[in-house]
Amino acid sequence: MQEDSSEVPPRDSNKTELSLQSIQKFVPTDYASYTQENYLFAGRKIVLQESIESYGALVWPAAMALCQYLEEHTEELNLQDAKVIEIGAGPGLVSTVASILGAQVTATDLPDVLGNLQYNLLRNTLSCATHLPEVKELVWGEGLERNFPKASFYYDYVVASDVVYHHYCLDQLLATMVHLCQPGTVLLWANKFRLSTDYEFLGRFKQLFDTTLLADFPESSVKLFQGILKWD
Ligand SMILES: C[S@@+](CC[C@H](N)C(=O)[O-])C[C@H]1O[C@@H](n2cnc3c(N)ncnc32)[C@H](O)[C@@H]1O
Repeated sequence: MQEDSSEVPPRDSNKTELSLQSIQKFVPTDYASYTQENYLFAGRKIVLQESIESYGALVWPAAMALCQYLEEHTEELNLQDAKVIEIGAGPGLVSTVASILGAQVTATDLPDVLGNLQYNLLRNTLSCATHLPEVKELVWGEGLERNFPKASFYYDYVVASDVVYHHYCLDQLLATMVHLCQPGTVLLWANKFRLSTDYEFLGRFKQLFDTTLLADFPESSVKLFQGILKWD
């Protein structure tokens, strides 16, 4: 759930800020203006640095829905120590919540988003997560087997929120979803359905994945699907 927003950065303790700087590998993205947005999930206040200057620096409606689902179904999903990869993680709300709930998370996105993503993740998990989340570049459809070889990268969950909208990488997105799924992997994809192309993508998704509607959020037009890759 989202709390109030404020332009004033909250004061982290010096200790936390220093440890954060020492492990932050990606230089924080240089947006001209930021806001600090507060969320409440998994019993914790999560503070994210966001900017209206990039799609990838804002929390989108499907991320809220997916986080609500994760916190309400943590045990059923067996998230403790589960290996989770998020694609198109943006400012990192879903990855943060999955980490707080005990998962081993890899959050991925385009290169220009990673600095802010890593900052938000570390800031919110450093003092409380069992496994510190990792941040990696993953451009949909590019270098998948080179950067995420199936033999050494296995994920229990692939998570994605609001990755389907009006863009030209839908084929590459679907190829990425397929590549990251192996037998036993569960894909959780939440999306706000706005356009006919969103439904076309869903149709193609259903051809490749055994698909179950896990939750519907009519007030935000978000649907959450579980996909299990078909192995024929
Ligand atoms: C609408 S935002 C959603 C962000 C976040 N998942 C959320 O729901 O709050 C879409 C995200 O997909 C990422 N993205 C867009 N095209 C991409 C591509 N070709 N490869 C990897 N990530 C991409 C953007 O950088 C952005 O973070």
